[in-house]
Amino acid sequence: MALLEVEKLSKSYGSNTAVAEVGFHIDKGETYGLLGPNGAGKSTTISIIAGVLKADSGSVRIDGQEHGVSNAATKGQIGFVPQELALYPDLNAWDNLMFFARLYGLSGAKARSRCGEILEIIDLTDRAKENVSTFSGGMSRRLNIGVGMLNRPRLLILDEPAVGVDAQSRNAILESIQRQAADGVSVLYTTHYMEEAERLCDRVGIIDSGRIQAEGTQRELISQVGEDDTIVLSLGGGKDRAVRALKELSEVREVSVEGSEVRLLLKDARSVIARILEVVTASEAVLRSVEVQEPDLEAVFLHLTGKALRE
Ligand SMILES: Nc1ncnc2c1ncn2[C@@H]1O[C@H](COP(=O)(O)OP(=O)(O)OP(=O)(O)O)[C@@H](O)[C@H]1O
Ligand SMILES: [Mg+2]
Repeated sequence: MALLEVEKLSKSYGSNTAVAEVGFHIDKGETYGLLGPNGAGKSTTISIIAGVLKADSGSVRIDGQEHGVSNAATKGQIGFVPQELALYPDLNAWDNLMFFARLYGLSGAKARSRCGEILEIIDLTDRAKENVSTFSGGMSRRLNIGVGMLNRPRLLILDEPAVGVDAQSRNAILESIQRQAADGVSVLYTTHYMEEAERLCDRVGIIDSGRIQAEGTQRELISQVGEDDTIVLSLGGGKDRAVRALKELSEVREVSVEGSEVRLLLKDARSVIARILEVVTASEAVLRSVEVQEPDLEAVFLHLTGKALRE
């Protein structure tokens, strides 16, 4: 059942169309990624969904309820982590959290207990009393995310939360989001890093020039654009016999040989791999190694838009 339903959202700045008829939905507990390059319309789309920007047209429903800038009931279900940091640098991490907790209507023991939980989730408990101005980029980002989780949102919206942070902080950020998803929170995540989308998202919408160009699971997206998988076999004695037999298989579209390496192009390698190994074994060739290479979202993006994600 969909927690978020977005229909035909459009937004223009003068003659520049930032978002054009964007539509998608996110189920309860699902993590959905908007993947696209700079200027694709990611921030505009999610700022509208978060209720901080007004669309020219289109609709956003949360749990079936019409959601807009002034609907407090639906707004209360959303946690928004904006692309720009929204923190007070002269306050420490604890005071920042307590300040925002009060904005969300938490006070006293409830506020303290929630802020303590958040510090654990974002792994900043032992830095709680340090001023945010002394924090690294990654620590500030984590605190920014913690603020977005304060009100126990059912939908957590994050705008490129792991940009410009070191690998360790990125890992901590992705893990904290995965834990929220495991707890049943729906997540809307924007990024221009396909690795993040692949690791985090159940489904991905590829956005470019304000439009969703394609969406689905990583597997679905790859099969939509018809990119082939590759199986690379390293063969010893009996290679030629094996190659002849492999060429007979209807599932294999192309076979190429380079030294001891045999590369097979085919659809959905995972479902064919057992058959391939059977054929190699029957031909009595010596199999040294086997590797399955699947096309990634970068390849899908390139196929759809004719350009690389990062130029
Ligand atoms: N306040 C604004 N005024 C005028 N144009 C804007 C404004 N905000 C966004 N735009 C334009 O709308 C388009 C989409 O911008 P948006 O910020 O949504 O992209 P994005 O996908 O978030 O990019 P990035 O990865 O750089 O954050 C861009 O062409 C941008 O220049
Ligand atoms: Mg943006």
